[in-house]
Amino acid sequence: MGDLWSARFQTSPDEKLKAFNSSISVDGLMYIEDIEGSLAHAAMLAEQGIISADDAKAIEDGLKGILSDVRSGALSIDPDAEDIHMFIEGELTKRIGEPGKRLHTARSRNDQVATDIRLYLKKRAENVCDGIRGFVDALYRTAAAHTDFVMPGYTHLQRAQPVTLAHHLAAYAEMFMRDYSRFTDAVNRMNYCPLGSAALAGTTYPIDRRLTAKLLGFTAPTANSLDGVSDRDFAAELAFAASLAMTHLSRLSEEVILWCSWEFKFMELSDAFSTGSSIMPQKKNPDVAELVRGKTGRVYGDLIALLTMIKGLPLAYNKDMQEDKEAVFDALRTLSDCLEIFAPMLLSARFNRENMLNAAKKGFINATDMADYLTKKGMPFRSAYKLVGELVFKAQEKGVGLEDFSPEELKALSPLFEKDVYDEIALKNCVSKRSSEGGPADIDSQLKRIGEFLNA
Ligand code: ARG
Repeated sequence: MGDLWSARFQTSPDEKLKAFNSSISVDGLMYIEDIEGSLAHAAMLAEQGIISADDAKAIEDGLKGILSDVRSGALSIDPDAEDIHMFIEGELTKRIGEPGKRLHTARSRNDQVATDIRLYLKKRAENVCDGIRGFVDALYRTAAAHTDFVMPGYTHLQRAQPVTLAHHLAAYAEMFMRDYSRFTDAVNRMNYCPLGSAALAGTTYPIDRRLTAKLLGFTAPTANSLDGVSDRDFAAELAFAASLAMTHLSRLSEEVILWCSWEFKFMELSDAFSTGSSIMPQKKNPDVAELVRGKTGRVYGDLIALLTMIKGLPLAYNKDMQEDKEAVFDALRTLSDCLEIFAPMLLSARFNRENMLNAAKKGFINATDMADYLTKKGMPFRSAYKLVGELVFKAQEKGVGLEDFSPEELKALSPLFEKDVYDEIALKNCVSKRSSEGGPADIDSQLKRIGEFLNA
């Protein structure tokens, strides 16, 4: 029979059951954390006099030997094992005999796996945070290099008011800084150690949960043993944080795709981050941005899988929970991969100042400024809005811009119009006068904020 849990069974498990039940292809990734958890548990058992110092030493040496052998490739993780916990405990006992059989005292796989995932996810979340930081850095550098690239700001994808490329990219930096703090929050909330919850109801042994929590770098032990083994909130939270970060990447992807089109031509990706077509020789495609946009759906899928997996589970552990790892690991890995490729793609892209400016010159994006001009001279804003709206209609019929009407033509509409209106509605000034806090001309303070995040 051989399975560690098979003592009460009369026949061996069906091969199909074994394969179906096994999670090693996913949780094998957590071998380091499983060994770390066992090292802390064994040290605590010895400290509390639950196992002897000699047994603890044998366990420690055995586990360290397994760790270095898996790392070096001398020992490969058995793909037929039930899970990483069974594999390592089985291997330990194979190597050191009797003391290995004492390791699982006062412990269950339920608190063991709950501990391992948290340890593993802490590292993965740290990778994600590094990726976000790197991406914010790419946004920052690209923004700082394009503070004078005027472009149309859009609402409804209709030209609305002028902004700059720096301002536009700094908006994305804000989103990703929020993502960063969402991951930090989630990790802080997750940073409690379930080890010692045992199967569900704690244990009768005099264990020291504070010691294991401390040895493993957790803030404290989890407070309730039932919650300790059955909580997977952290997986859902991380998958949500990843989903929202993917949402931000996907929105930016959509803009990259639009901006690379012949219709916009606001930017061109470097050849190194573009792809061609097998039939159309002229094609240069933004596949990376499209893939990122596409993978966003997959990360949402991970989040929904987790929420749905958890929602009907009675306390405490249920095997359904084994499905947690594949989903949350995939969400974090996908996000990390996307961030890692998006940063150099952005840094190596070229932006077309001319096309952006030309787009900003068309579409009457200085209309608000003209209305504001009249308003500042005393006309109620609603009246100014109406006057300029009618003027836009006329301009459109004549195929000209607002700045193309003569002083006389304007004066005829309102005596408030003076020569200085042309300055007021000149594109450059429409941008430079938008210096209200957070506006396009307040970019220095925005860049400073992002710089402070990067230096923290
Ligand atoms: N492979 C299992 C998981 O990932 C480990 C916990 C198994 N516990 C149990 N009671 N069968 O969830």
